[in-house]
Amino acid sequence: MCGIVAAVSTDNVLPILMEGLKRLEYRGYDSAGVALVEAPGKLGRAREVGKVAALERLLTAAPLTGMAGVAHTRWATHGEPSQDNAHPHVSGRVAVVHNGIIENHQALKAELVADGYVFTSATDTEVVAHLVERELKTRGELLAAVDAVVARLEGAYALGVIDADRPDRVVGARHGSPLVVGIAEQGCYLGSDPLALLKVTDRFIYLDDGDLVEATREGCVVHALDAAGRRRPVVREVLRYEHDDMVAGKGEFEHYMLKEIHEQPVAVANALEGRLGSDRVLVEAFGPRARTLLSEARQIHLVACGTSYHAAMVARYWIESLAGVPCQVEIASEYRYRDVAAPPGTLLLTLSQSGETADTLAALRHARKCRPDRYIGALSICNVPGSSLVRESDLSLMTHAGPEIGVASTKAFTTQLTALMLVALGLRQLRGGDEELTARIVHHLRYLPTLLGDTLKLEGEIASLAKRFSDYRHTLFLGRGAQMPIAMEGALKLKEISYIHAEAYAAGELKHGPLALIDASMPVVALAPKDELLEKLKSNLQEVRARGGQLLVFADPESGLEQGDGMTVVKVPGCCRFLAPIAYTVPLQLLAYHVAVARGTDVDQPRNLAKSVTVE
Ligand code: G6P
Repeated sequence: MCGIVAAVSTDNVLPILMEGLKRLEYRGYDSAGVALVEAPGKLGRAREVGKVAALERLLTAAPLTGMAGVAHTRWATHGEPSQDNAHPHVSGRVAVVHNGIIENHQALKAELVADGYVFTSATDTEVVAHLVERELKTRGELLAAVDAVVARLEGAYALGVIDADRPDRVVGARHGSPLVVGIAEQGCYLGSDPLALLKVTDRFIYLDDGDLVEATREGCVVHALDAAGRRRPVVREVLRYEHDDMVAGKGEFEHYMLKEIHEQPVAVANALEGRLGSDRVLVEAFGPRARTLLSEARQIHLVACGTSYHAAMVARYWIESLAGVPCQVEIASEYRYRDVAAPPGTLLLTLSQSGETADTLAALRHARKCRPDRYIGALSICNVPGSSLVRESDLSLMTHAGPEIGVASTKAFTTQLTALMLVALGLRQLRGGDEELTARIVHHLRYLPTLLGDTLKLEGEIASLAKRFSDYRHTLFLGRGAQMPIAMEGALKLKEISYIHAEAYAAGELKHGPLALIDASMPVVALAPKDELLEKLKSNLQEVRARGGQLLVFADPESGLEQGDGMTVVKVPGCCRFLAPIAYTVPLQLLAYHVAVARGTDVDQPRNLAKSVTVE
């Protein structure tokens, strides 16, 4: 999704802007651009379709220098990916970069056209550039002009704006799209994600919705609206960013995704840190309101998108079976637009790696607005401290996965599952569930990082199988019980990065439709841990074999499943049935990764996808 970097400094800011754009590449984008105040009254701009490297080549041929600038990676919403549609958009002395969507752009455009403004792009953003330019004529100061403009904008936005006549400042605005201010000795920076700025600072102010910021070389002033709607300077806390050591680069790995797959033992250990007692989960360590929220919840609505939604689906199996609390799991883009019949005592549990997914945030706001009397509170499970979701929830359980760069989510998912198991056990403890089973699962959780480390040793075996898969056009994934959402996650990983069509089914549903697809050209991946459904699953596998389907089964060593004609079996280290969904995720990630590598796709930045979807 779109990324913003802006800077004002005592030195040329171009290298900082370009480094920032490279650090935002992981979010997914289709064009990039930069604009600088080259001298008082003079703006320089370069834009290019494709990768940041293409923009860099353009700048090598025709360099720009300046001590204030804005830069952007664009993920097309209004208007195709093209040079004209790429940001920054310029109007007179003003250059603007924008994330989000200006919903009333058509009405604003009509007004500007009537006023003589000429549009050169198909974007919604260009109206902002012209509006600021027009306001500057009467208001003189960039901050005042941007203030007047944001009052007229509807939709979601983060903005970075420069004025050629003021080479000493950059103005930013945030409303529904993330924006942070980075503070350093030599200057002040804006970024849609702190990762963009970690090369120059680890000190950040996370802006609130409605904030405007004026950044100069000396620092920044944040202006918020008071209760009467007047702009006032406010003091916002400066926070130190914790995870910079984990973004150093790809290290020995060819892709971020592979690095992140291999980081899972450490990431899961971090997610567990300080949260396990000798034979119970330390609910008090979740935060001050945890005990009340988890005790009072009579029903849980789990709401998320993408991979996070799959984690929510697994959690339903765990929470209902371990704690007996009824759960409803829903995709956020559906939940936000329907009349949800939430019974009194509902706990809203949102899950998001980024904490900035527009639909998930909207679902939280929808629940709060429509039936506040029905919800006892909002708990979020999130990987990004200071994100919008964390700030708007009553309680957040951080996953501590460290920054995830690969668009296809891996360690964020397994740490979400780990946090969800902690929640399930917490709910169980507070309801007086049998302590022996709790203690047993807690014991297994302690060994989970080791188990994941052992599971990663399957990589060589899976990599050689992957070559075979890369020629198929479709794949079916099967699982039962809590492995069914893991099958869905495996299918999602494969389609996201290898572009092979993949679908997942509860194995029991096979005979109700997908069996019609089975023939020798249809590979079927199945998950067979040792649990109460294993024998049922074996019958489903027979149904596939009888029709010539090619099986790849990830199975428990004691499952009794053996290699045979048309059936490849990969033995996954034996584990507790409750934690098997976490362990069985790893071979599916490795399979998708190695199939994608064999097919030569862009693993870390798959086509058309974005890491954090901050628009609807
Ligand atoms: C995008 C990403 C997915 C992610 C989903 C939800 O689609 O490409 O990997 O699962 O958003 O993101 P979130 O940050 O809310 O977990």
